[in-house]
Amino acid sequence: MMKTIAVLTSGGDSPGMNAAIRAVVRSGIHQGYRVYGVEQGYEGVLADEFKLMNSNSVAGIIQLGGTVLKTARSETFKTDAGFAAAVKILKARSIDCLVVIGGDGSMRGAQRLAEAGIATMVIPGTIDNDMPGTEYTLGFDTALNNVLDAVNKIRDTAASHQRVAVVEVMGRHAGHIALTAGVACGAEAILIPEVKTDLAELCDSLRKRFKRGKVYAIVIVAEGAGRAYDVAATIGNITGINTPVTVLGYIQRGGNPSVYDNVMASRMGAMAVECLTRGEVNRLIAFQAGKVVSVPYAEATVKRGLDPELCKLAGILAT
Ligand code: F6P
Repeated sequence: MMKTIAVLTSGGDSPGMNAAIRAVVRSGIHQGYRVYGVEQGYEGVLADEFKLMNSNSVAGIIQLGGTVLKTARSETFKTDAGFAAAVKILKARSIDCLVVIGGDGSMRGAQRLAEAGIATMVIPGTIDNDMPGTEYTLGFDTALNNVLDAVNKIRDTAASHQRVAVVEVMGRHAGHIALTAGVACGAEAILIPEVKTDLAELCDSLRKRFKRGKVYAIVIVAEGAGRAYDVAATIGNITGINTPVTVLGYIQRGGNPSVYDNVMASRMGAMAVECLTRGEVNRLIAFQAGKVVSVPYAEATVKRGLDPELCKLAGILAT
């Protein structure tokens, strides 16, 4: 009997999701599967709206940011009644595997479905790059390039007006975007939730820089480390330097996905289907030690911390 796959995107959208959807659909069809697309994440499952996909369904989407299947954070799915309803619908549709493209909250939903007997597979999609079991999550590289582009523009005006520009970046609880983008754009200071920053010390360093003639600075603040407006107010009050604030927000999640994200997404989508052909389900498609692999959920438990070498380098290069 023909195998049936359903694919959905869940949680915060991230660049590369469309490439992953495309790869799941086309690889699935190539392997002889029927593939359904589900819109708005787990909400779409609960609405019992499954759209039969063909190769043309995913034509012309790889270059698009966001997700053509739309996404949502479903509070209903988190309830016992909502979850039971989703299980019932998936069983009634004889879905052999539900492929979930999303972050760690979405993965928890997929793990719960697996425990209820619904085979699932997770493709890591969040710009935060903070999911357990994988060194990379789709959208991280594109988000970094969005931050770099914005900070380069902000630096021009900070240098022209001799200001300390404070820039807030995303990363709900993790500092990966702030640290990596901070090194990439040569930020003078990077505030991340994983490391406590002594603002008095930072202000002293900024005052010394200005006295040395480097009369502007970029301070990157991860949203999980605090509010950029509060950091800017403290720096301004202590140093007397003008400290304008830019909160990059959703700019980081938009735009055309990078080459890296689209290639990674395509490989991960194809790997998800390949695992299914081998009967390997209830796994996270992960990037580990330079390879795309699949990891049983039970082994996808450890979140990769910040790279200590990168943290050290950030400190050295920022002086
Ligand atoms: O999880 C990805 C993310 O972009 C976080 O970095 C950010 O804090 C959050 O989503 C924003 O959530 P929402 O899109 O629901 O506002």
